Order: sequence, then C-alpha cells, then structure tokens
Amino acid sequence: MEILQDSAITPDDKLIPSAQCQEAFCRFILARTGIIIQAHQFDNLRSAVSSACKRFGYASAFEYLTKLEQGANPPRELEFLISAITVRESYFFRDQYQIDFIRDIWLPGVMPKKPSGEKRLRIWSAGCSGGEEVYTIAILLMEALLDVQTWDINLLGTDINSVVLSDAASGIYKDWAFRTTPKHIQDKYFVKKDGAFLLHQNVRKMAQFKYLNLNEETFSHNLDTTHPFDMILCRNVFIYLDHRTVQGILKNFVSLLSPDGILILGASDLVETNIPGLELCRHQNMFYYQHRQEVFAPAKEIRPSVRPPIEDKHPPKRVQEKAPLPKKTASATPDPKPQKKTTVREEVIVMDRNGLWHEIPVFVDAYTADHGEDAFLTGMKAKALAGLGNVAAAVDLCNHSIELDKTCKYCYYIKATILIEMGKLEDAQHALRRAIYLDHHFFEAHFHLGQLLVRFHNYKAGLKSLRNALELVEKADQERLLFIEQELTCGQLVEILKSEIGVYDARDGKG
Ligand SMILES: C[S@@+](CC[C@H](N)C(=O)[O-])C[C@H]1O[C@@H](n2cnc3c(N)ncnc32)[C@H](O)[C@@H]1O
Repeated sequence: MEILQDSAITPDDKLIPSAQCQEAFCRFILARTGIIIQAHQFDNLRSAVSSACKRFGYASAFEYLTKLEQGANPPRELEFLISAITVRESYFFRDQYQIDFIRDIWLPGVMPKKPSGEKRLRIWSAGCSGGEEVYTIAILLMEALLDVQTWDINLLGTDINSVVLSDAASGIYKDWAFRTTPKHIQDKYFVKKDGAFLLHQNVRKMAQFKYLNLNEETFSHNLDTTHPFDMILCRNVFIYLDHRTVQGILKNFVSLLSPDGILILGASDLVETNIPGLELCRHQNMFYYQHRQEVFAPAKEIRPSVRPPIEDKHPPKRVQEKAPLPKKTASATPDPKPQKKTTVREEVIVMDRNGLWHEIPVFVDAYTADHGEDAFLTGMKAKALAGLGNVAAAVDLCNHSIELDKTCKYCYYIKATILIEMGKLEDAQHALRRAIYLDHHFFEAHFHLGQLLVRFHNYKAGLKSLRNALELVEKADQERLLFIEQELTCGQLVEILKSEIGVYDARDGKG
C-alpha cells in the first residue's frame, strides 16, 4: 500500500481515488467478492468511493480503502461500496425458455421422484437481486400446485448487495420489472400502489432473503439449510465474476444439490462441460446442469395436482406509444468500420445495452421515416423484438435486414444470436459462418461459432473457432465492449476464451 499516498491538493480531490488507488480498490473488490470491475464502471467506482468517504467521514479515498482492507470498518461501509458497484438488473419471468422448462418439464418431473409422501421443495436463487427471480418461481409454484399450501416450500434468495435484499423483502416493483411478464399474471399477483406494484403477501411470505457472499469459501455453512436444494438458480451472476471464483462457487453448489437437483445458469453465462459432479444437459434450446450423471428426463405424465401451464406465453407486449429519442451517449463499442450512420448506430447499440427494447423499434421507425431503411438498424430492431419475446417477428425482420444489405455482417450475427435463443442451432451456425465469410476478423462470430460447435461435441472444429477468436480479440482494444454482448469487454473475452480453450483442449481429438 506504500504507493497509495495520494498527493492530491484539495480535500475533495482526496476523496476521488487516484489511478493507483482505484486499481487497489479493484483488487480489493476482486479479492473480497470475485467481481471484476470493468473499465466502463470506473466512473461509477470513483463516485461511489467519494460518496462513501463523505458519508462515513474519511478524509481520503486511501484512508477508506485502508479501513476496508483492515476489516476495521463496520460492514455497512463495505456494503455501501458493494451496493454501488454490483449490477442488479433483473426482471420477472426472465428468459422464457428457462421459465417454460421449469414449469413444464422440471416441476412435473421432480415430484414423482420424491420419496412417497414427501412434499418438500428447496429452491435457491444465488445472486437474487431484488427478488424478481425468486418470486417468479413462487408464482410458478402457485400456478402449478393446486395444493401449494400443503407443501413444505423453502424459497431462498441470497445476494451480496444488502440494498437489493431489502427491496426484495418489500415486494414493490416498477413497471419495467414486468416487461416480459404475462399481463394476467401481473394483474393476479400484484396490486398497484403509489405508481408501483406490490406483490401479494401470500407470495411474499413464501420466500426468504439473506445476505451471502458467494466468494466466501465457507458460504455453504452460512446457509443453515438442513436439506439440499432441488434447484439452484445462479443466473447472470458469473458473468461479473472471475474464473477462479466461479470454480469455487460451482464446487459449493455441487455439495448443496440433492441427488436429483439441478443448477440453472443464465443464458449468457459461460457454459462449461467438465464440472465434477455436474452433467451438462440440454432441453430444446436451454442448458442446465444435472447433479450426478443421471440425465433429467421430461416427465411422461403430469400429476393431477399440477395445473396446465400458464397459457399466455408470449402476451402482446405493452409497447410505449411514443418514446423520446435517447440522449447521445458515447458507446464503448465503436463500429469497427465507420460509416455515415455511425452515430445513430451507436445510439441504438447503447439503447440495446441498457435494455431499452421497447424504445428501439420506435426510434428506428422514426429514423426510417426520415432517412429510409437501414440494414443495421433494422437488424437492431429485430434484436429488440427478440428481447421483448417476439422471436418469430424478430427472425422475419432479420431476414429483411439481410435483404436490404447482403454484405452486412452484423445482420447475420444478430440473426444468429436470435436463432441461438430459439434453439435453432444449426441455422445459427449457418448465419455465423456467413458473418465470418463477410469479415474473417469478426471475433464475436468466431467465439459463438466455437461455443456452438463444442456444445455439439465437435471439439476439433470448436477449438479452432475459439482459437481464431482468441487470436483476433487479443489484438483488439481490451477495454472495448463486445458487439451486443451485455457488459462484456474484449479483455474479459480473452479470459473466457483462455479458460474455455483449456477446458476443451483435453477433449481435442474426440470430436
Ligand atoms: C444481474 S443480477 C442477476 C439477478 C438475477 N439472478 C437474474 O438473473 O435476473 C446479479 C446479482 O448478482 C449479485 N452478486 C454479484 N456478485 C456476488 C457475490 N460475490 N455474491 C453474491 N451475490 C453476488 C449482484 O449483487 C446482483 O444482484
């Protein structure tokens, strides 16, 4: 720590960490939580440190850091920092494929496997954010089990961010949290209150929330659960953590799963195939991990206490009538081939990154009315439609964008990402190959192609694509965000690729 003696002049300057001090904060956060602070989060980190100093009375960022490192501060001082730097994005009924799987396949299948008379379910959402995920499961159970009140159900949500945990306990949500929720479900389980939506108490009381740092090696002891979990959800958490931390967490998960238990990660989390004690399984277009070697088989018959699935899978989305054009924001993903419409493209990329899918179609339509159709923007509109759950229209629109410009690699790439979501993996491969044909340096496309190939156990070809991606991405600006990949930088992709290549190298030759 000797290097960190800030020589700043004014007292306020001292509250903002210098470059070295900032690096030390990043190291501290990584060591304590496993979270990698990315370059685009640095501003946020600096302002969080400065606010923390003011709030807790530290004279400098360095002093605050020293106290944190010594563990001499009350936990709230650490919690303040963690709350500021964690990404809490979550919403109800996130990822339709996983929801369909849980409701239609897993739930009907798990009950017949229980010892006779046992009506107990243990489900854990690790990295639960504001509770949207846990309550989605609670609602699925309410809908599926006619005799839900006779079941011993333990729904646990844990997170490292204490602010989100108190939000979860309150059960109050803004409209945006329902962007993929069937309307009749929102109406049935929530009441409008002061411009927000309050979850019914009978659902709220099904879940418990707890503070838990997944990076603590001994976290399993802090769960004080006497029964193993039937299902662990850890969705969209690993993407923020370093590889070593993820390996440790997975090991703990294995020890906490029941013999038939499953683990579900987020669709954009890294898929690894060689996790001891877990078998990677696929159901249509989603992946999950099955404890031990037993492959989870869809139940042939549905028990009488199970209601039919919720019907309205893709309800009409409540698209805003009119969305304001977003403020111009610098995108961290520069279009590698600057063209006339770079600025507009960047704006749409930023909107996509912020999940403003309702606004993108309005924005693109307004642009088109003035300037005519643009292949790239049409592709991005298609991506937004897919984000809103309208995948069929999204694919049609992608095809149209390709008709507009058959040389637009991004259109093929966007189409591929949508096809992957839909589980049309062969077609996705084809689209990725087209994108690569148009630009051999398109490392995002090499990366996805490699991932698809190894998922199909074609390790030789998959490794080749992953190595191509690595070679190319190593030459790129390491702080650049990847094209339409939430929050992932080139530097992180390098780490992911190295780790994936290491995993699949062992299988080379068997593909
Ligand atoms: C993007 S949210 C995902 C929420 C939810 N699982 C979903 O998919 O909608 C990621 C959550 O992981 C939590 N998280 C990050 N690192 C963590 C750690 N080391 N231990 C526990 N939770 C962590 C964050 O606080 C945040 O609430």
